[in-house]
Amino acid sequence: MVDADRFEEMRQRLQARVKPSRYAHSMGVSQAAEQLARIYGVNENDAAVAGLLHDWDKALSFKQLRKLAKKHTKVPKAVRKNIPGVLHAYTAPYSLKKEFPELTDEVLQAIERHTCAAPEMADLDMVVFIADIIEPGRTFGDVAPLREAVGEVSLEELFYMTYKATMIYLLEDDKAIHPDSLDTWNAWVAAREASEGGCFGSVSADGDGEEPEADADSCASSESEVPEGETSQTVQVAEAPAASAGVAEATSASSVRSNGARVITIE
Ligand SMILES: [Fe+2]
Ligand SMILES: [Fe+2]
Repeated sequence: MVDADRFEEMRQRLQARVKPSRYAHSMGVSQAAEQLARIYGVNENDAAVAGLLHDWDKALSFKQLRKLAKKHTKVPKAVRKNIPGVLHAYTAPYSLKKEFPELTDEVLQAIERHTCAAPEMADLDMVVFIADIIEPGRTFGDVAPLREAVGEVSLEELFYMTYKATMIYLLEDDKAIHPDSLDTWNAWVAAREASEGGCFGSVSADGDGEEPEADADSCASSESEVPEGETSQTVQVAEAPAASAGVAEATSASSVRSNGARVITIE
């Protein structure tokens, strides 16, 4: 449990460490994660803290991140070399534990998994991953169906939808994909297919905070709301093309291309 004073200290230190757009994004992720946690019965304090600090190491250069990752993580050399945009997630547990020793393994794991996720995700992991993509500063076209699904589909289904949207983005925009991200995708596809009705279901209508009930009807709607064919027109990279990602992680920076498509940085 991080109390209000400590949270405020974390916030101020983050603000002093990262650029203003990153700080604004981090605040958005913290708030979105807290809201998701409330809706899905996850620890709200953990979610707010993990959301706030998830991009802590974005302040570092790729050179610094590669050095840290080589020394303190198991990230393969090829990923360190070719997909440096994901490294800040893997180095963060090491960096943050030094800064804030009270951070729990659960919070650090959620931060570590916010770019590439994992075949088995804790609820907090999913909350932070989703919040990173749907926080209010995000304006790309395909984020709307994800936001609309909050509270309507189960946390697993919402994570699946979000992960799918980021994978589509990476392919459509010729981005490198972390090998582990493919393992994660395959594992989630298999788990979803094995679920009742072929998807992870909707949230139970009584809102009692219990495990969501499977509802096959939500499969069709969630699928149709993320049309693959439209992704390339609406999710495009605006800056830092060298920062190709494993699975996308977003900033709040955005602009509009000449064709009218909203451009969002995902790095
Ligand atoms: Fe990130
Ligand atoms: Fe982020």
